[in-house]
Amino acid sequence: MKPILVTAALPYANGPVHIGHLAGCYIPADVFVRYMRLKGEDVKFICGSDEHGVPITIKAKAEGISPQQVVDKYHKMMGDSFAEFGISFDIYSRTSNKKHHETASGFFKQLYDTGKFTEQVTEQYYDEEAKQFLADRYIEGTCPKCGNEKAYGDQCENCGSSLSPSDLINPRSKLSGSKPVMRETKHWFLPLNDYAPWLREYILVGHKNDWKPNVYGQCKSWLDAGDGLQPRAMTRDLDWGVPVPIPGAEGKVLYVWFDAPIGYISATRELLPDKWEHYWKNPDSRLIHFIGKDNIVFHCIIFPAILKAHGGYVVPENVPANEFLNLEGDKISTSRNWAVWLHEYLNDFPGKQDVLRYTLIATAPGNKRQRFYLA
Ligand code: MF3
Ligand code: ZN
Repeated sequence: MKPILVTAALPYANGPVHIGHLAGCYIPADVFVRYMRLKGEDVKFICGSDEHGVPITIKAKAEGISPQQVVDKYHKMMGDSFAEFGISFDIYSRTSNKKHHETASGFFKQLYDTGKFTEQVTEQYYDEEAKQFLADRYIEGTCPKCGNEKAYGDQCENCGSSLSPSDLINPRSKLSGSKPVMRETKHWFLPLNDYAPWLREYILVGHKNDWKPNVYGQCKSWLDAGDGLQPRAMTRDLDWGVPVPIPGAEGKVLYVWFDAPIGYISATRELLPDKWEHYWKNPDSRLIHFIGKDNIVFHCIIFPAILKAHGGYVVPENVPANEFLNLEGDKISTSRNWAVWLHEYLNDFPGKQDVLRYTLIATAPGNKRQRFYLA
């Protein structure tokens, strides 16, 4: 029997869980895992809170508390909601714990020691008022591909493009609103371009017929893009995260999209200290990542390249990604407070978890935006 490892995207611990989370990722994953268990398969279901990165530090600033207080608060709320709605994880861990810091740090160190990174001094946006480099979501501007005025420094949520801060038109600091300036800083890059031939073989040839069309299509457009895959920095100038474990990197942390997917490995190690390699280092093992569509590039391109660079690990066999759920025609959004929160749903409809589960499964947002109206 082939081992099956199912992961559901580690949600940022920066807000409660809403019905969009359930619909797009956690219920599909849970249904799949329950089916596999019924069939008697050797399956494990892994999740946890993603507790690093700018989404956490921005929330801490907004609430006037520390990042640790933010993640403690929301990790608890999210874990409780998942449990109340019957999402049957074998483990719900968190990336601020010691085991994860060790695993992610060790992973980075191995890549560094085997020469997998390039070291580059580049110019990055810096906020002179806040006296801080502006990584990823600390910076906002207009997407060069689709014109969305609220694209982040690492990604446009409207068209799904993966971006660098310097791609943004009219960049603004989210900290002070000011126009940032360029300043030099040193970072460690994974040359994704070196992995392009392997990625093309793995995805475009290997998974042409078994990945969902939306997932395959996004991968194909990145791999076919004229400017190709670019080296991507795996470190950041931030004071919240896993410290970069090499000399000369004081005050820097691992890029959250480097450490978070490794969180799947850390959580498996935590669950099965003596047996985790059976799922991760076994050529027969089937690794399946359930995610929302904004996570496609990270799970299909960047994480597999990281695993390949390290060696010895399986790469994802499938990455089922769903579209987003709409609420009364508008995109669900934590930051705009446009959502049905699970803890509030339970107040209004006590004991009615399965009604919601059924509705979300029956109208699953597979291919196009789904409308959802609460009666
Ligand atoms: N926290 C991310 C989000 O909510 C998902 C991280 S998935 C992982 O979009 F692979 F990095 F764990
Ligand atoms: Zn865009």
